[in-house]
Amino acid sequence: MTETDQPVRVPAHVAIIMDGNGRWASHRGKHRSAGHQAGFKTTRAIVEACIRQRIKALTLFAFSSENWARPQQEVGLLMDLFMHALKSEVAKLHENNVRMRFIGERSAFSEKLRKQMALAEEKTADNTGLELAIAVNYGGRWDIVNAAKALAQQVHEGSLDPDDITLDRFAGYVSLSDLSDPDLFIRTGGEKRISNYLLWHLAYTELYFTDTLWPDFSEAELCEALAFFSGRQRRFGMTGDQVEKINA
Ligand code: FPP
Repeated sequence: MTETDQPVRVPAHVAIIMDGNGRWASHRGKHRSAGHQAGFKTTRAIVEACIRQRIKALTLFAFSSENWARPQQEVGLLMDLFMHALKSEVAKLHENNVRMRFIGERSAFSEKLRKQMALAEEKTADNTGLELAIAVNYGGRWDIVNAAKALAQQVHEGSLDPDDITLDRFAGYVSLSDLSDPDLFIRTGGEKRISNYLLWHLAYTELYFTDTLWPDFSEAELCEALAFFSGRQRRFGMTGDQVEKINA
């Protein structure tokens, strides 16, 4: 850590799976909805913490394509919470120069919700601060299939030669193609899985898992994750000696 308490190397892009809201509520004898409410407050605090920590991009998994399988009441409640969050938070995020976007298949959401998402994106489109991406009805496999479909369409139309489908070209068709891949992935709630999150993007990402339930996650623990990241040697397939020479 430096004198200003900043980790030596700050990840440019952090991706988080915010897990453990339900268990947090159950441990307190509360309904799962109380866990999601508390999780929402943590989300707000962590977005602000990321700005303070000079992280450039933050991608949050708010609702997976598999979350529709939850009891209808809980799905409805999460939708209400997203709507409330969009209405109550966007002005403040805009003031803080945050640029917002949503990734995932939106067609499954109500028209009202889709409209609020589009409004949030439009309002913050020219902001130059934190790039905040919220994954909703998102799945990593869906993202890869979408990219494959777009390229297949071009091949079908004759505008693309299959031999020209390179890694770089493919990467241009998955979500967040304008951002660098996440440097650090954080999952709260004790599970050590990627759960169909950014499958394409996490290829070389450092993975940090914690038992802390999302509503209990804090800036202090974010800093622990940043310190963990700072201590990692990222080799991208090279040897440790090679990396040391490059960084010397
Ligand atoms: C996982 O906890 C959490 C979710 C599926 C919803 C995430 C939503 C929030 C954090 C609140 C709002 C966020 C935004 C961006 C408005 P879980 O229910 O799977 O917990 P469990 O594993 O303990 O059951």
